[in-house]
Amino acid sequence: MMIIFKDEIYHKTLIFILLTIYIVQQASGQDQKIIRPGELWPDKQGNHIQAHGGGIVKIKDTYYWYGEQRSRGLDTAYRYVSCYASKDLIHWDFEGNALQLSDPENLGHRWVLERPKVFYNQRTKNYVMYFHLDDARYAFARVGVAISKKPQGPFRYVKSFRPLDRESRDIGQFIDDDGTAYLIFESRPTKGFFIAQLSTDYLTVEKEVCLINAPLEGGALVHYRGLYYVIGSALTGWSPNPNQYATAKTLEGPWSEFKDIAPPETNTYQSQSTMMLKVEGTKDTCVIFMADQWRPKQQWDSRYLWMPLKIGQGKLWLPKPQPWTLNVKTGETKPL
Ligand code: GAL
Repeated sequence: MMIIFKDEIYHKTLIFILLTIYIVQQASGQDQKIIRPGELWPDKQGNHIQAHGGGIVKIKDTYYWYGEQRSRGLDTAYRYVSCYASKDLIHWDFEGNALQLSDPENLGHRWVLERPKVFYNQRTKNYVMYFHLDDARYAFARVGVAISKKPQGPFRYVKSFRPLDRESRDIGQFIDDDGTAYLIFESRPTKGFFIAQLSTDYLTVEKEVCLINAPLEGGALVHYRGLYYVIGSALTGWSPNPNQYATAKTLEGPWSEFKDIAPPETNTYQSQSTMMLKVEGTKDTCVIFMADQWRPKQQWDSRYLWMPLKIGQGKLWLPKPQPWTLNVKTGETKPL
């Protein structure tokens, strides 16, 4: 009799504990598959994700998100690139700072490392990181390259250069369906952005594929159902502006005229493009618009605007941001 009574208490206590854990998880959003554009985005450790101006690369079934690490209290002698890992694009593990770099080219006070992008090279088994490297006046205008054998680093600085001997500021990355890797870089005085193919080892920019002659930066590119779509933002620094898109049948062009991706008065819902991510699932393929909502005076608090795009048949539209769910296995998305 006594033993049965004890067992009952034990079971009830266990159920109570499990229920409490479940309720707490639900309340903290940890267990939910929801992306909330513009809100704080805690990583699995509970800290707001620091991967600004970022890019994502998928290795097997893991996504790695790299970006500008802009936490408070970092040693200002260095610039840092963070690395996060996820299998569902929603819950992210902070893998540490993949790159910690001190001024590599004598750039001086307030030197700049922005918009890091990582490519994985199958042949050399190297992870190759590109980033915008600059001085405080943005006059150096080069890309920096760093490599690592592991996705989470540590990346080792290799060199800097001007791709195709051109000035380069904002960069973007694009991996085509056949695996070919491209760097997108904004260039002046030409006023436009280049799509350029990387060399076989990815350590240099080899071939100009196209110059899109429009004064745009924040270049993002995707291949969707037989058409290339490119997005760019106007050159307004940290302030948002109406981002625009164009299409082409081949990367070489000709590219269509540029059109707004959202009502222009919203200034892309206060955001600036950094990448378009295609998720091909068993039931659907979605394209996620990844953008930054910069807070220049408190960059650690800058937010991310991720939304599934309405895309197809030559049209692209960014729906009004709202929480949404994503299933990376099926490729399906749903507004909440
Ligand atoms: C933006 C650019 C950012 C950063 C900023 C500095 O135009 O997209 O990455 O460079 O200017 O003002």
